[in-house]
This record gives sequence, C-alpha cells and structure tokens, in this order.
Amino acid sequence: MSLSSHLIATAGGSVPSGSQLWSCLAARIPGRRTPSRTWLSYLLLTAVLSVPGPGAQAQDVTAELPTSSEALERGSRLFLAQCSRCHGAAGTGGEGPALNRPVLHSAPDDATLVSVIQGGIPGTDMGGAWNMLPEDARQVAAYVRSIGRTAVVVLPGDPAAGEALFQESDCLSCHIVSGQGDGIGPELTDVGARRGAEHLRQAIVDPGRARPSAIATMGTSGFEGYLPVRAVLQDGSTVYGMRINEDDYTLQLRDDAGGLHSFRKDELQSIERDLEASLMPSYDGVYTPAELDDLIAYLASLRGAS
Ligand code: HEC
Ligand code: HEC
Repeated sequence: MSLSSHLIATAGGSVPSGSQLWSCLAARIPGRRTPSRTWLSYLLLTAVLSVPGPGAQAQDVTAELPTSSEALERGSRLFLAQCSRCHGAAGTGGEGPALNRPVLHSAPDDATLVSVIQGGIPGTDMGGAWNMLPEDARQVAAYVRSIGRTAVVVLPGDPAAGEALFQESDCLSCHIVSGQGDGIGPELTDVGARRGAEHLRQAIVDPGRARPSAIATMGTSGFEGYLPVRAVLQDGSTVYGMRINEDDYTLQLRDDAGGLHSFRKDELQSIERDLEASLMPSYDGVYTPAELDDLIAYLASLRGAS
C-alpha cells in the first residue's frame, strides 16, 4: 500500500491524531528529517478532505512557493533526479514538453503546478511523483517557475528591423544603449536580460503603468526613481520634471530638456507626485503591430554591453 493510500484508508475510518499520523509517517519514511507542521497538516487535509486524483486542485492554495536560493537549488536537484529524463536536464523538453516557458497550460497557477507534480496529468505519461513530500514538490515547482522566467523565449519580431526602428525614432534622445544616446531615461544596454517581453511592450505603449513596479530603486537612496513630480513655488510658478533625488528637506528634479532643478522643500508651496504618469511618451499607435514586435525583439536582444 502506498503512503497516500495508507493515509486515506486511515483517514477514512477515523481521523487520526497528529501523533498517530506522525508515527505512521515516521515508520514509512525512515531517515526523513522532522517535518514541519505545515506539510503534516497538508497531508492530513489532503487525506481527509479528498482523494486527490491526478491533476486535482492542491489543497494548500494559499502558500507561496519558496524563493530562497537554497530551496531553488534543492528543487533543481530533485528535478534532475525525477523529472529530467522526460523533461530534459534544464527543462528544455524531451519525452515531456519543455518546461522553460513562462506559461504552462496544464499548470496555469502555482497551486495547480504543485498538484500536477504530485498527482500527474490523467491519461498521459505524466504520472506524478506521489512519493514526493509537499515541501519537496513545492521546491520543484519553484525551480520550474524559475526556469520559466529566465527562459529565452522566441519572440515573433525581427530584432534587426527593430534596431532600425529604434535608431530612427527618438529613443536615443532619452536612453543610452552601449554608449550611444543620452538623456533622462534608464540605460537600456541590458534591458533584455532584466525584463520580459510583456514588460517591454507595456513600457512602450503604456509607460505610466510600466513605471512604478519597473523601477523600484534608483542610485543608493532606494526611493522610486523616474517619478514625474510637479514642484509649485511660492510665487505660483511650477517646475515639472523627473525626481532624481529627494530627502526630508530637499528635492531635485530634471526637466525633459535635461535641466537640473534643486529646491529646499520649505521654499515650495506644494509637491505633486504624478504616480500614474511617466516622462516617457506613450508610443501607442505609433507603430504597426508588426513593427512593435520588431522593436520588442530588438530590446529583448539587448543583454549587456557588447
Ligand atoms: C515519464 C516521463 C515524465 C516524467 C518522469 C515527468 N513528466 Fe512531466 N510530463 C510528461 C509528459 C508526457 C507530459 C505531457 C502531458 C500531456 O500530454 O499533457 C508532462 C507534463 C508536465 C507538466 C505540464 C506541462 C504543460 O505544458 O502544461 C508539468 C508542469 C510537468 N510535466 C512537470 C513534471 C515534473 C516537475 C516532473 C518531476 C517531478 C515530471 N513532470 C516528471 C512526462 C513526464
Ligand atoms: C522623453 C524621454 C523618453 C523617450 C523619447 C523615450 N523614453 Fe523610454 N523611458 C523614459 C523614462 C523616463 C523611462 C523610465 C520609466 C518610465 O518613466 O516609464 C523610460 C523607460 C523605458 C523602458 C523601460 C526600462 C526598464 O528598465 O524597465 C523601455 C524599454 C523604454 N523606455 C524604451 C523606449 C523606446 C523603445 C523608446 C523609443 C521608441 C523610448 N523609450 C523613448 C524616457 C523616454
């Protein structure tokens, strides 16, 4: 009898106490380190609430996947041992599909991914790893997601055509790429390694929405950079620009002509932070969909100084 069916059989009679459950587990998994309450209660829940068929919803839907480098490392070793023969050493695919993709159709969210790993997909060669502890499955899931994020995704556009578009647009008046260009925007020399294609698309057509989560820190001070700010002086005149520094007493802005403005806060009437806006103009409608794909393919190819 497998561990899971034993648990289910036990639970089906009367619900075992935690210590009963633990002694039964301990007997069956010799040498296992002491489990945390979390997975113990997960097992109990799983056993009592349902007979989780392959692909069934995971019960522990609230838990986030682990993010520590230790957990990812462990996940990758488990993956190599148990999954790589079908999915390839780095999830590049083989008998099973490539998993280094940002969207997995059978595992659209993390809870389902954990459940697919443990329970498999019915009617396919993806059998599932019933012997895997929930904690281990979650580490494998975290690893699978990590290769999905860093994957080199094949984009529809043509990077060379995109580079030409980039050069003939005014991008280099605000951005530097490999020493070329100038201006108030962030350097784009390695933007393809830092950002996914969706973010790049949003940065171009809807820069105000891409900005806040995009650039959380700037320089050493840790405030959100590139924030458009309107400083209203005592005489009512205003200066609109991008915040490049701010502390309790002072504020520095750079206007879109590149001019630097420095204020003491007590000499200002007000400071308006434009949280939804960006100093980058939206290029929505400027390019055809195919041109936009080209531009994104070019930006995604920028992976560091060449
Ligand atoms: C015996 C081969 C085999 C093994 C071992 C195996 N898989 Fe699979 N896996 C498959 C196949 C085949 C599919 C495709 C099933 C289908 O047709 O939908 C699949 C599908 C998947 C999917 C869904 C992919 C998608 O695009 O939706 C995930 C996620 C997955 N496997 C993860 C794993 C993990 C993690 C392991 C190791 C714990 C593992 N698999 C072990 C063969 C395997
Ligand atoms: C007037 C200045 C200006 C121009 C022109 C401009 N940008 Fe920007 N860009 C910015 C600023 C400022 C940011 C910082 C984030 C924000 O405010 O949206 C930015 C952000 C970006 C980002 C996101 C960078 C990241 O790390 O997330 C990309 C990609 C980008 N711009 C591409 C372009 C492209 C492509 C063009 C030309 C089609 C262009 N920009 C034209 C000012 C500009």
